[in-house]
Amino acid sequence: MANVDWDALMAAARDVAGRAYAPYSGYPVGAAALVDDGRVVEGCNVENAGYGVTLCAECGLISSLVAGGGGRLVAFVCVNKTGDVIMPCGRCRQLLFEHGGRGLRMLTPLGERTMDEILPQAFGPEDLAEVPEAAAHLRTDGGH
Ligand code: THU
Repeated sequence: MANVDWDALMAAARDVAGRAYAPYSGYPVGAAALVDDGRVVEGCNVENAGYGVTLCAECGLISSLVAGGGGRLVAFVCVNKTGDVIMPCGRCRQLLFEHGGRGLRMLTPLGERTMDEILPQAFGPEDLAEVPEAAAHLRTDGGH
């Protein structure tokens, strides 16, 4: 398995955590990921006075991935304000799964794991493909 520069990804995640907008929770989060073309994409949480409208750091990261030309996520880490590695919330595991799949390498507080280990039996595009009516709507070109 190729080497992942986790220190560089951690540094990127810590850096972007410093730009989070988290006035309501006081819990800034920074996320960084390596893309299969060598890019590093990042995101921070952006809270809102309507608390439920909050965007997790991973939402920004995925937006940046897609807006920057797409690609597959290879390795991912997120950190809190103190720079410690945290686990992505359940919803964000699903977001990451879509763009990294089962083999996405995740740095966790317990060490490196794969996405398959932290979101077992994930629901994904393949499940849609199994149902003809749903598959008819599946596009492989990202909707372009
Ligand atoms: N948060 C993230 O940005 N990502 C996660 O995976 C966990 C939670 C944010 C959302 C909210 O702004 C703050 O952390 C506290 O829940």
